[in-house]
Amino acid sequence: MTKDTVTIRNNATDKETEFSLLRGSVGTPAVDIGSLNKELGVFTFDPGFMSTASCKSAITYIDGEKGILLYRGYPIEQLAKNSSFVEVAYLLMNGELPSEVELLSFTDEINQHSMIHESLRIFFNGFHYDAHPMAMMVGVMGSLSAFYHSELDMSDPEHRRISAMRMVAKMPTIAAASHRHSVGWPFVYPRQDLEYCENFMNMMFSLPGQKYIDKNNYIDPIAVKALNLLFILHADHEQNASTSTVRLASSTGANPYACVAAGISALWGPAHGGANEAVLSMLAEIGTVDRIPKFIAKAKDKNDPFRLMGFGHRVYKNFDPRATITRETCYEVLEKFPSDDPLFELAIALEEYALKDDYFIEKKLYPNVDFYSGIIYKALKIPEDMFTVMFVIARTAGWVSHWLEMMSEPGQRIGRPRQIYTGYKNRDYSSIDNR
Ligand code: CMC
Repeated sequence: MTKDTVTIRNNATDKETEFSLLRGSVGTPAVDIGSLNKELGVFTFDPGFMSTASCKSAITYIDGEKGILLYRGYPIEQLAKNSSFVEVAYLLMNGELPSEVELLSFTDEINQHSMIHESLRIFFNGFHYDAHPMAMMVGVMGSLSAFYHSELDMSDPEHRRISAMRMVAKMPTIAAASHRHSVGWPFVYPRQDLEYCENFMNMMFSLPGQKYIDKNNYIDPIAVKALNLLFILHADHEQNASTSTVRLASSTGANPYACVAAGISALWGPAHGGANEAVLSMLAEIGTVDRIPKFIAKAKDKNDPFRLMGFGHRVYKNFDPRATITRETCYEVLEKFPSDDPLFELAIALEEYALKDDYFIEKKLYPNVDFYSGIIYKALKIPEDMFTVMFVIARTAGWVSHWLEMMSEPGQRIGRPRQIYTGYKNRDYSSIDNR
């Protein structure tokens, strides 16, 4: 028996087997139980993947106890301070930070792929004017494969690379088009002379005949910096629900546009990317500081489905390093774009109240990245129904990086969990006598 094994015994059959421990470069080891059923005649049961590693990956590392988040080994704090979203997308997709020339060429290629086909623009007309932008994101992303079927040979690394680039490049264009369709404004074409986030803001807000810096200064350098920062923070988060959805869909051999559309759907839920929109609705519902205790009591009440949105995380159990950064950015953005809305003060008061409460202390519930991201987006005049769409733009870099990593590995198998069946045993059709 070595230290690098775990022995599992099936007491029902008196059989035991040693299983190897798999170790990554850092982090908790995992028991390789792929042959468990063959060896011991049992499955494992782990709904919600509380103790299950679903793959090996070299992209992102999280230490939830210490509040560490690394992209390709670089701490999120360093990337947030020094990098741009496009540089981080390059890092995630390629494994290394780009040289100056590599970054220029990557940016150039993103610019070239940023337009969407004119027929795709018409596709938007099928959506009702008040459709939620996330519904449009799911549908339009899924439809992209219909435009690029000549470059969908997934055994060809160049086809894979171009597909990934297209998704990162077109996502802001599709996102801005979703917003403009919902308000009935004419679509704005992407501009190659603007930086990625500037370009997005221009496609969102500029009016015909207007220069890209509009009278309200939405494309102020502080706004662009804040947007880059939020996109960096949201770019990847290892095997979260939407990334795992992209991986599972990809394991079937489905095309990457369909797989990312599945990822967008998974991100939409309030327990995941929908939390930033839900935080703002919650703050609006709380309204004033004196009502905080009532809502904290609701969050603690087991018979009440209400949860404090923007609080808690499956992996982070002391603090979410991204929340520390978004909180600081909130001060900077609100100083530049002051608002009469006391949302930020309310959020700070709610955080302070919750962090002193025994329930939140015992369960290790802290603000996560999305507790403050919505307040920043609101200050930048991004509409609330676009908050999760903003998350989509950023997370696309992560989704395609995981997809590229997975598709380059030999010996892919379809993802196919097992179950514990709790339904009827065998029943006889002819025994029904009441029909
Ligand atoms: N408010 C009140 N109670 C909570 C909350 C909350 N926000 N989050 C967890 N709990 C309680 C929960 O009721 C449970 O209590 P008990 O042990 O008595 O049953 C305990 O804490 C553990 O919760 P869980 O649901 O088992 O934990 P999880 O790891 O499955 O869920 C979570 C993590 C993020 C889905 C959850 O904390 C949550 O629903 N938070 C609010 C939604 C949110 O902010 N989501 C954004 C996550 S960060 C962005 C992203 O990565 O997508």
